[in-house]
Amino acid sequence: MPLLAIETTCDETAAAIISPERHVLSSVVASQDELHARWRGVVPEIASRAHVERIIPVIDQAIQKAGIRKTELRAVAVAIRPGLIGSLLVGLSAGKAIAGTLRIPLIGYDHLAAHLYASRIAFGEELTYPAIGLVASGGHTSLFHLKNPIDLEALGGTIDDAIGEAFDKVASLLGLGYPGGPQLEKLALKGNSRSHRFPRPLAKDSSRLDFSFSGLKTAVRYQIQPPGMTSPRCLSDQERADLAASFQQAAVDSVVAKVSLAIQKTSCRIVAVGGGVTANKLLRTALEKLGQQHCAKILIPPIHLCTDNAAMGGIGWEHIERNEIADLELDVLPNVYRKKKQQPKRHGASHQ
Ligand code: KG4
Ligand code: ZN
Repeated sequence: MPLLAIETTCDETAAAIISPERHVLSSVVASQDELHARWRGVVPEIASRAHVERIIPVIDQAIQKAGIRKTELRAVAVAIRPGLIGSLLVGLSAGKAIAGTLRIPLIGYDHLAAHLYASRIAFGEELTYPAIGLVASGGHTSLFHLKNPIDLEALGGTIDDAIGEAFDKVASLLGLGYPGGPQLEKLALKGNSRSHRFPRPLAKDSSRLDFSFSGLKTAVRYQIQPPGMTSPRCLSDQERADLAASFQQAAVDSVVAKVSLAIQKTSCRIVAVGGGVTANKLLRTALEKLGQQHCAKILIPPIHLCTDNAAMGGIGWEHIERNEIADLELDVLPNVYRKKKQQPKRHGASHQ
C-alpha cells in the first residue's frame, strides 16, 4: 500500500504517491510562478490562497495517475517545516483531513531532509550514510552531515542571502522575470564568465563551512548602478549576458569551494545534493568534476526532483519505519532553521 506525500512549503502545490520500495507511482506539481511573476518574488498571501484552490485537485490527480483508490493509501506524509506559515498550513490541513477520514497514519516531514532524500528516490541504495548533504534553494544554502535520512546535523549555512534568492535578485536587476534562476542561467549561456571578477565571499576561509551571497549581489548591483548614480546604466544585451555569466560563475565557485571543504573536513565520500538551484547546469557540472577530483560520489538528482516536488516526500517511509507517527495535533514549524536572535541586554533589567 503506497504513501501519499504532500508538499506546500512555498509556491508549488505538489502531491505524489510513493510505494514502500520508494518507487514514484505519480508526482504532480502545480507551479504558481505566473501568479508571483509580476511581483518578482513569492507573495505569501497569494501563495496560500493558490494552495487552497489547488491542493485537492492536485491530490486527486496524483491518486488518479497512480491508478489507485484513496482507500488503498497506507499513510499521508506532509512537509511541515520550514516554509511559509500559510502555505504549510494548507498542506497540513489537507493531510489531516485525509488521514483523519481514512483513519490512516499522518506523518510530518522536513522539507530540507526531503530535498536530500530526492537522491534516495533517484539513486536508490547508492545513497549510503553517513553522507554530506548540500541544499541550495530559494530559502536555504546549507551543508549537513547526515547520519541517516532524517537526522541532519548542520555543518554550515548562509550568513545572509540564500543562493536562490541571490539568483532571483540579480535576475531582477538584469530585467529578467521570476523565478530568475532559470532565466539567468539561459542568459549566462551567451555571456563571458571572465568579463567581471566578482567576489566569492568566505570561499577561501577554510575555518568554516558557511556561505555568503549578499556581497556578490551588491557587486553586481554596483556594475548596473554604480554608487552615486540615481538610475541604472543602460546595458547592451552582451553586457547583461556577461554580468549574468560572471555572477553565476562566482556563485557556483562559492558553493563548490565549501562542498570541497566539507568533503575534506568530514572524510565523507558521499554527497547528496538538492534544492532548486541544483537544477543549474554549471553547478551540476562543477559538482560532478569535484566528485571526480575527490573520488567522492556526488548524487545529483534529475532536475524535476531538485526543484520543489512531493516525490521527495517519500522520506515519509523512513518515519513510518521508525514508527514516528504524528497525531492530529501536529503543527507546522515555519522557522525551524532560523537562528534565534540574541536579545539585547538591557541595563537594570532583572533576571527572570
Ligand atoms: O527548492 P526550490 O524549488 O524552492 C525552495 O525550497 O526555495 O528552489 C527555488 C529556487 C529559486 O530561487 C529559483 O530561482 C532557483 O531555485 N532555481 C535556479 C534554477 N532553477 C531554479 N537557480 C539557478 N539555476 C537554475 N536552473
Ligand atoms: Zn525547496
